[in-house]
Amino acid sequence: MTTDPDARSTLSAQSTSSVEQATVEAVSQLEAATDLEAVAALEHKFLSRRGWFAEAKSRIGALDPADRAAVGRSLNDARSQLEAAVKAARARLSASLSEDLYAAERLDLTERLPLKVPLSRGRIHPVTAARYRLEDVFVGMGYSVEEGPEVESAWYNFEALNIPDWHPARGSFDTIFVNLGEPEEVMLRSHTSPVQIRTMENRKPPIYMVAPGRTFRTDTADATHLPAFNQIEGLAIDRNITLGDLAGTINTFVGELFGRDVKTRLRPSYFPFTEPSAEFDISRPDGSWLELGGCGMVHPNVLRSCGIDPEIWQGFAFGFGIDRLAVMRHEIDDIREFVNNDVRFLSQF
Ligand code: PHE
Repeated sequence: MTTDPDARSTLSAQSTSSVEQATVEAVSQLEAATDLEAVAALEHKFLSRRGWFAEAKSRIGALDPADRAAVGRSLNDARSQLEAAVKAARARLSASLSEDLYAAERLDLTERLPLKVPLSRGRIHPVTAARYRLEDVFVGMGYSVEEGPEVESAWYNFEALNIPDWHPARGSFDTIFVNLGEPEEVMLRSHTSPVQIRTMENRKPPIYMVAPGRTFRTDTADATHLPAFNQIEGLAIDRNITLGDLAGTINTFVGELFGRDVKTRLRPSYFPFTEPSAEFDISRPDGSWLELGGCGMVHPNVLRSCGIDPEIWQGFAFGFGIDRLAVMRHEIDDIREFVNNDVRFLSQF
């Protein structure tokens, strides 16, 4: 039997009621914990191998044998309460952690501007508007609108257009090549002419088509150039087509676009895919001429590349820049304005 007074006091500290009191205290500390680190620290303090519970248990042997069982039961009870309190505190704090995250990342998609602030509608970009206008004019003349890929092979961008790989004209297109397959085999199209080839390959003549779309060259952007710009290509394939039909067609769509008093003229030029080739100009009110694009009679080699017999079918083609056209039409002095995306500029149109 223990008679040592110090041992007695230890024993009394380890009575059932002192265990219960310590447990209540520990549980309320866990309930008050405000973050997961605090919970981990409390768990360590109460439940680790050197913690309160382990230490109390190690002292059971020093108790009056009559008390051991009761204190042991209350210690076990204390442990389950503490474990449950740790678990509950973890659950509470990690739930509020994700709630905080949700709250911080929440987007209010129902948000509305106060009604007194007038909502302004977006607008169609001037280059897109020019493209739509051109499509409308050509559809009105019986042409279909065709599209093709922006990444092309050498066949469509050059070869089928009568520009074999030794041809000096290849260099003049300042092509942006894509690092895929054989060198200089895959590229961003440098003009919309590949779409004529795709259309002729897939359709039987007669063909009347336009192909608007983005084109790319290694040009550095300046007041009159963009490395990514827009062209529209026209192609007509039929029987007995002549240069007169080409000149008349150009005159008709320019009249539709700019008004009947604007005149057009052709000047001899060179393109590998047309023969003869010309540049076409439009008249300005002051009597001077402005170059708009290139055109010509489709070269027989181009027709043959697409399986069309040049003895039966002839055609003309033309192409010009849509951005350039929009620049002229709105008298814009720097073509880069079209890609700066400054709403103050764009909202003028
Ligand atoms: N593809 C030519 C270019 O980009 C334009 C053109 C089209 C010329 C059709 C003649 C016929 O320069």
